[in-house]
Amino acid sequence: MRIREATADDWPQIYPFWSEIVEAGETYAYPLGLVSDEAREMWMYDHVVVAVEGEGEDEQILGSAKMGPNRPGRGSHIGTASFMVSSAARGKGIGRALGDYCVQWHRDEGFHGIQFNAVVETNTTAVRLWQSLGFEIIGTVPDAFDSRSHGRVGLHVMYLPLG
Ligand SMILES: CC(C)(COP(=O)(O)OP(=O)(O)OC[C@H]1O[C@@H](n2cnc3c(N)ncnc32)[C@H](O)[C@@H]1OP(=O)(O)O)[C@@H](O)C(=O)NCCC(=O)NCCS
Repeated sequence: MRIREATADDWPQIYPFWSEIVEAGETYAYPLGLVSDEAREMWMYDHVVVAVEGEGEDEQILGSAKMGPNRPGRGSHIGTASFMVSSAARGKGIGRALGDYCVQWHRDEGFHGIQFNAVVETNTTAVRLWQSLGFEIIGTVPDAFDSRSHGRVGLHVMYLPLG
């Protein structure tokens, strides 16, 4: 598995797991029912990477992450990121590799810290993974996410200072 910058041609392979994750209703508050072009607008901007295996024609995209400034202008020294790994490829270290990449990218770009704005509290795999990378839960907005299986649950703001 390797991580490379995404190109526009990658979107058709990203969209199926992107929409599966959003429609599952457990981890992201993107609008529901987006067609491919609408979803692409929401993912393919700032710095987008893909985790791939295989070469050339056989290359398969297993996951994707996007990252960039959390706020424009005077807030732009704090970064943010989003992550999606295809359900078939989970539990094999891809999420951790994308997380490590994200932290290093922000360091290399000179960001002051990384803020995750909306980590669903019941998404314990993600919460633990980000904590293991050094992120702390700054606070939790109660009942902010309407989880398909748990009902209204909190959204954590998580932060990693980069000093
Ligand atoms: C969260 C997500 C990105 C993690 O990706 P992944 O490739 O499955 O993660 P990894 O394989 O690197 O596993 C990361 C850690 O979580 C653990 N883990 C993975 N799946 C798990 C599961 N179902 N239950 C418990 N622990 C799990 C792993 O053991 C690993 O811990 P370790 O490195 O200490 O052994 C992925 O599950 C995903 O895309 N989920 C849907 C979208 C999402 O939640 N995005 C993040 C929103 S904040």
